[in-house]
Amino acid sequence: MLEIELRALTRARRLARLTSRRPWICSPCRNTLARRPQWRAMGTAPVVGDKKPFYVTTPIFYVNAAPHVGHMYTMVLADVLKRWQVLLGNRDAKLLTGTDEHGLKIQQAAAALGMKPQDLCNENCQTFRNLASAANVDHDHFIRTTDSEHKDAVRYFWDMLNHRGYIYTSKHEGWYSVSDEAFYPISAVQPIVEPQTGRKLVASIETGKEVQWTSEENYHFRLSAFKDRLLEFYRNNPDFITPRNYMTGIMRSVSTKLEDLSISRPTSRLKWGIPVPYDNSQVIYVWLDALVNYLTYAGYPFPPNAKSIWPADVHVVGKDILRFHSIYWPAFLMALDLPLPRRIMAHAHWKMNHEKMSKSTNNVVNPHFAIDRHGLDTMRFFLIIDGPQTTDSNYDNAFIVERYKKDLQGILGNLTSRLMRSKRWNVRESITIAVEGRLPETISENLRHKEFLESMPDRVKAEMEQLDPRRALNSVMEIIKETNRFFHNMSPWALTHHVDLSRPSELDWILYNTAESLRIGGILLQPFMPQKAALLLNMLGVSEEVEKRSFSAARYGADADYGVPSLDLKRGKFNGTLFPPLLCED
Ligand code: ME8
Ligand code: MG
Repeated sequence: MLEIELRALTRARRLARLTSRRPWICSPCRNTLARRPQWRAMGTAPVVGDKKPFYVTTPIFYVNAAPHVGHMYTMVLADVLKRWQVLLGNRDAKLLTGTDEHGLKIQQAAAALGMKPQDLCNENCQTFRNLASAANVDHDHFIRTTDSEHKDAVRYFWDMLNHRGYIYTSKHEGWYSVSDEAFYPISAVQPIVEPQTGRKLVASIETGKEVQWTSEENYHFRLSAFKDRLLEFYRNNPDFITPRNYMTGIMRSVSTKLEDLSISRPTSRLKWGIPVPYDNSQVIYVWLDALVNYLTYAGYPFPPNAKSIWPADVHVVGKDILRFHSIYWPAFLMALDLPLPRRIMAHAHWKMNHEKMSKSTNNVVNPHFAIDRHGLDTMRFFLIIDGPQTTDSNYDNAFIVERYKKDLQGILGNLTSRLMRSKRWNVRESITIAVEGRLPETISENLRHKEFLESMPDRVKAEMEQLDPRRALNSVMEIIKETNRFFHNMSPWALTHHVDLSRPSELDWILYNTAESLRIGGILLQPFMPQKAALLLNMLGVSEEVEKRSFSAARYGADADYGVPSLDLKRGKFNGTLFPPLLCED
């Protein structure tokens, strides 16, 4: 009898503790927390003017399956942002990518394969590393949430939230999607019939992924307490989310339905994760764990007087995870008085057969096959120029082939060959005449083209500052396309019959302007198509010295020394063609 009563009492106490809205901290923990200094309290200033390294991140990807072209797209966008900063040459730049390895999704994927979660993670994280290197993503670190530094950072982050009173325990009921690793309120789900199987189920309206009713006791974060601060922050930073159209939905969601967030799961459901400090019966919610990765790489918890690359300059994310990055993440950081990321660059989705390309739907394009088939830089070019920014894009091999033939082979490659491989003129001589100031008075077409070339680099720079690589790449291509028209209209091959080739003439103007276009275009193209741009600059004979290929050299007249190809344009496998004919044409 007594035993039963005692058991009932223990249960009641446990329940009271779990449902109390006060943060509960055990005494050893309280003492440890008191000894641990916070960043603000330490008075360290991790942002050293604007010379702090530029810090850009990709999401860390779930390792439940191998990556697809959508992941490559995000990685390439982040890579272009980093390489752009390197091109500017004003500050160091860091790019972080990696894998998100905890949570129910991974636990279930491992169980389905009869594997231990850690083994699945070890195996699949390699596929993301391989993609980063195959896509020439110049990352400085590949983080895994199973890294011990990361687990320490997450536990510390949790402790701090708890210490500051932002964590409480209570019963949580709601619809959980394993695929999205997110709870949804009743208003965000609907009953559906799965088309493939005819099975009736409940699914998230936003993502279409199945949800399951769960009722459990867990820890919560006081997200709702941040409503006003978040809204004020968005109003004061209208460019926080780019493109701007995404901001409206986020602001609406914060002002209408910002509920406290469940941030742990009972171990009875989820074992694969970081245990809640001092409570082994709960595991930290995978999204809280995952978001902290951006801080882990920056050295969190920051030791005294540390100089850190934090805050991130840009988090590049798909629109599917914008909510987590633009609501939860800033709120977590606000709770700890940590600086917020400066900008979030969101993008829409690649679709395949009118559905979002997705690991869990398995309607994916293997990026390695795509790279083998079309070439890496062609893929990078296509992804950036036709990629989904505000609206979803359909992926189709025919589009890639068309881009290749029209823009790359037909215009950029062709113009370079026509200029550099002609036997009718000597480009180096025209450059010498121009840099020695011996060009004759000329007609307005040449001067107009010169002015155009003088204006374009700053336009590209402004577009990159607006985090619009697609528009910036279009502008680089406009330099090439406009020059192609100019070259065609000026018909330099016809002039060779009329002018006295021993004296400076109109012909030198045309050749110099065309060479400058390709040189400036080639320099600006480097962040987008690093290999092809290097080849183009070699064909033009631009020195490989950093300053000759940096943004400051992308100025009309900035280089006096090029014009003699640094590789043989006539021989070998390369055969002088920047974009060789396609083998398969479908
Ligand atoms: O969400 N089109 O990981 P994830 C374009 N682990 N981009 C796509 C895409 C598509 N069809 N499919 C995926 C997670 N992506 C979390 C992130 S971050 C702290 C944690 C890209 O493996 C896009 O960037 O589901 C999207 O946001 C991300 O992959 C989601 O990858
Ligand atoms: Mg996903």
